[in-house]
Amino acid sequence: MFSASLGRNLGRVAAPAVLGGAALIAAERDSSLGVSKCNEDHIPSIDLGWSHHGALASFDYKSIRRGFQVYRQVCASCHSIDKISFRTLVGVTHDEAGAKKLAESYEVVDGPNDEGEMFERPGKLSDTIPGPYQNEEQARASNGGAYPPDLSLMVKARHYGIDYIFHLLTGYMEPPEGKVILPGLHYNPYFPGGAIAMAKQLVDGQVEYEDGTPATETQMAKDVAAFLAWTAEPEHDERKLSGMQWMFAILAGLAITGFYKRFRWSIYKTRKISYTSKSK
Ligand code: HEC
Repeated sequence: MFSASLGRNLGRVAAPAVLGGAALIAAERDSSLGVSKCNEDHIPSIDLGWSHHGALASFDYKSIRRGFQVYRQVCASCHSIDKISFRTLVGVTHDEAGAKKLAESYEVVDGPNDEGEMFERPGKLSDTIPGPYQNEEQARASNGGAYPPDLSLMVKARHYGIDYIFHLLTGYMEPPEGKVILPGLHYNPYFPGGAIAMAKQLVDGQVEYEDGTPATETQMAKDVAAFLAWTAEPEHDERKLSGMQWMFAILAGLAITGFYKRFRWSIYKTRKISYTSKSK
């Protein structure tokens, strides 16, 4: 009985270990043969040292505000940000009245009504920002078969995150000699494989910033990347702030506990025990 169940349990532990080992050996053999994976065929993005990357640093909200403008005026014709609702923008890119006005400028499908029909109404703060297409098929049909992905979580979905967005937007160039780019694709060495269905989007002066910042290509790429870092993690600042508060509380708790322990134990640590013999 005992040995049977031991055997079974050993099997349970050993089988995945053996399988994992085999997979590792296979992977090793692949790389030693020089078989390159498709996603190795690109330039890694450089860490640009974003101001919000410090342990205690917050987002640059002026940049996010400009980035939203770039998103709306350039990217929104193809990409949605469907994880973000209008009310999330309040206090970030707009005040409440501004966000309400913005929401009302969109038509949102709602329903069904009493007759079972869907209907359109002006957007409300609680609606998510409507995307440009009804569904993936429509998006593909409008983009030569390529699907412009939702950008809400793009910074988290790609290796090199925010740096990748910046490099992707500013990295378009002529393909090198010998690199064949099929019609409808564009050469961008930061995109895995190098051939992307999205054409170059940003050119100097394309947007007129409300705050008067000169809208160069790199400025817009930086701002829209910062905006997408925010859409991927709107709770970023709050997370860091509450992290700081917890660290402070834990350290204070530790200090008090340490003091209390010394105080309680001082009697035992400083006492002296002496014995007197009864026989005397
Ligand atoms: C004319 C339509 C169009 C516009 C405008 C557009 N894109 Fe795209 N985008 C696409 C398409 C199509 C793809 C899919 C490309 C592919 O898979 O080859 C894409 C892909 C992407 C990707 C994903 C790349 C990856 O690694 O998979 C990002 C990020 C992106 N776009 C960002 C932006 C940003 C930021 C803007 C605004 C500055 C923008 N796009 C404007 C059509 C567009």
